[in-house]
Amino acid sequence: MFKILGLAGSIRRASVSKAILRTLAEKAPGDVEVTIFDLGDIPMFNQDLEDDLPASVRALREAVAACDGMIVVSPEYNHGMSGVIKNAIDWVSRPGYASVLVDKGVAIITTSESPLGGARAQGDLHKMFLSCLSRIAPGREVSIGGTQKGVVDGKLVDETQIRRAMTLIDAMLDEVCLVQGREKRGSRH
Ligand SMILES: Cc1cc2nc3c(=O)[nH]c(=O)nc-3n(C[C@H](O)[C@H](O)[C@H](O)COP(=O)(O)O)c2cc1C
Repeated sequence: MFKILGLAGSIRRASVSKAILRTLAEKAPGDVEVTIFDLGDIPMFNQDLEDDLPASVRALREAVAACDGMIVVSPEYNHGMSGVIKNAIDWVSRPGYASVLVDKGVAIITTSESPLGGARAQGDLHKMFLSCLSRIAPGREVSIGGTQKGVVDGKLVDETQIRRAMTLIDAMLDEVCLVQGREKRGSRH
C-alpha cells in the first residue's frame, strides 16, 4: 500500500480544490490510500514558535512524515499559489534541507475558474517544493481550468482532467518507488 497525504490550498467549505482532491482520493487505485489533511487550523508561520510547535502544525508535520507521497491541489490567487499552501509548507519545511519534505513525492495540481487553470501558480509550487528537496512528479502539468463546468456537486466530473491527474499521481508513485527502493508499479492509467 501507498499512504498518500492530500493537501488543498483553500480552506473554504465549497472549495473547488477540496472537491478535486476528494474526487482523486475516491478514484485512487486500490494500492493507494489517500488521507486529506485540512489546513484550516494551521496558524500563520512564526519562527518564534518553532521550539514549541502549535498542536495543528505538529499534526501536519507528523502526517507528512508518515506518508509516502503527497497530492497538492492549490488555487491560483493573484497569479501565484495560495497563501494557505505556502504557509503550511513553510511550517513543514523546517529544519531547512533536512525536513520531512526531503525526498517526499509530490503531485502538483492547480485549479482556477479561468481556462488557464492556475498555470501561473504551477511554477510557484514547483519552485517551493524543489527548495524543500521534494521529488516533484514529472510529466504533463495538471492545471484544471473551467471549473464552473468541470466541478459539479462537489465532484470533479471532467474525465480528461481526472485521467491527467491520475497519470500524474502514477508518476508521483513511481518517484516514491525510486526513493524507497520499491519495485516500480507500472502505470495504472
Ligand atoms: C484572492 C483571489 C485571487 C484570485 N486570483 C486569481 C488569479 O490570479 N488567476 C485565476 O485564474 N483565478 C484567480 N482567482 C480565482 C480562484 O482561482 C478560483 O476562485 C478558485 O476556484 C478558488 O479556489 P477554491 O475554490 O479551492 O477556494 C482568485 C480568487 C481569489 C479569492
